[in-house]
Amino acid sequence: MQTDSSFTFVLFGGTGDLSMRKILPALFEAHRAGGMLAESGKIFAVARHVADRAGYLEWVNEHVKPHVSKNGLDETAWASFLDRIEFVKIDLGKPEDFVLLRDAISGLPGIRVFYLATGPSLFVPICHALASVGLNENSRIVLEKPLGYDLKSSNAINDAVGEIFAEEQIYRIDHYLGKEPVQNLLALRFGNVLFEPLWRREWVESIQITIAEELGVEARGDFYDNTGALRDMVQNHLLQLLSIVAMEPPHSMDSDSVRDEKLRVLRALKPIDPRDIGKVAVRGQYHAGVIRGHAVPAYATEPGVKPDSTTETFVALKVEIENWRWAGVPFFLRTGKRLADRVAEIVVNFRAVPHSALGASALRGGANRLVIRLQPNETIRLYCLAKQPGEGMNLASVHLDLAFDRFFREGQMEAYQRLLLDVINGRLALFVRRDEQEAAWRWVEPILNEWAVSNKPPKPYAAGTWGPAAASAMLAQHGTCWLEEEN
Ligand code: BG6
Repeated sequence: MQTDSSFTFVLFGGTGDLSMRKILPALFEAHRAGGMLAESGKIFAVARHVADRAGYLEWVNEHVKPHVSKNGLDETAWASFLDRIEFVKIDLGKPEDFVLLRDAISGLPGIRVFYLATGPSLFVPICHALASVGLNENSRIVLEKPLGYDLKSSNAINDAVGEIFAEEQIYRIDHYLGKEPVQNLLALRFGNVLFEPLWRREWVESIQITIAEELGVEARGDFYDNTGALRDMVQNHLLQLLSIVAMEPPHSMDSDSVRDEKLRVLRALKPIDPRDIGKVAVRGQYHAGVIRGHAVPAYATEPGVKPDSTTETFVALKVEIENWRWAGVPFFLRTGKRLADRVAEIVVNFRAVPHSALGASALRGGANRLVIRLQPNETIRLYCLAKQPGEGMNLASVHLDLAFDRFFREGQMEAYQRLLLDVINGRLALFVRRDEQEAAWRWVEPILNEWAVSNKPPKPYAAGTWGPAAASAMLAQHGTCWLEEEN
């Protein structure tokens, strides 16, 4: 990818965790790769706690460097990357400080990108301050999640930002959409003739989407305790993955064609009746346990978490899509912290053959299955039945394995790198449009509301397990189980 489009990338929250772990490392990788970022492109970090550029570069060297190029750092590239970085000291509580930013960047060539790696309460004040010094022209704004706390607060932010920036200037990040395997899912579905005819209720029995984490809430106890897994992972990442799995083939890959199709899925989600919530939603909270041989504490004792917290760290849901393609097919979504493994995967279970001349094993649902693993390693496996060697006709499960790192040894890109390049180059397809976000909030709100008023606490699970037993029982009612429970 070669580019000559110049840019000025302004990073609010320049000394924050996200800048340290994701944004600056992603910009460095794009810089190091050569040809992805215009030579003249500049990065302006905005922060309050650092005195000047020298102080900021010191911070970058100390905190960002350990997160880049884990397989060996190219020191020459690192030095030239630092040359791109400028610094503006702004107190975000003082709109008058934005004159400093305007003076620093006006006159620079190319598009301006404002990345708001700050808490959502600062989104609107920053936008107003940018507009007050005329910086909303010739610019794009990137908003990090969480974008609001519910439909109302998300609408309030979107309304206020929308008064200053047009929708096509607004890039709402969901980093799951930038992951290579998610792109590959689109390629698999719409670049091949093999899968699409089977990708429907007639042939698919159920679909599972799991994002499991081994990590706990780390240093974010306070934020997480006011958020919970439904807001942190389901409303955005899981529903975005679901919409990509279930969408109709778009007319083209342009941003609105893709986003229109995703929106149709989100709008077709069967609304959850609060009376059914116990049947279709499980929430859990981790207790003390052991992960990879290490004892880990209970959620309620993590720093920043209230000791009597009822915030969920685990959610499992049964979701249905009310359209011709998917009517009656359960989609099981699951996410949790402190689970037994770190894995994100999509499992498409196909129906059994209608009649088996080959014995009962061919009648088992899930004998044909596609497992798309997003992380930790990116693979796609297609499971089939084959004859076991030797006498008789005994069937056994085998799989075709597509390990992408074997086919494509170079060029893998981290999600943030892809998404940042998309912002700089004006590609909106992998960003969440306002109407998608609203549809997702609208769908999760009855669950949030019901959990808020219910006096039932989340179900406990030991850290290092796969969550509460109720999540398995929910699938058992449909004659199925989670992938790791097979055999
Ligand atoms: C973030 C959530 O959006 O995604 C975190 O706020 C979560 O709680 C993270 O840990 C998971 O992302 P990834 O890419 O590490 O799977």
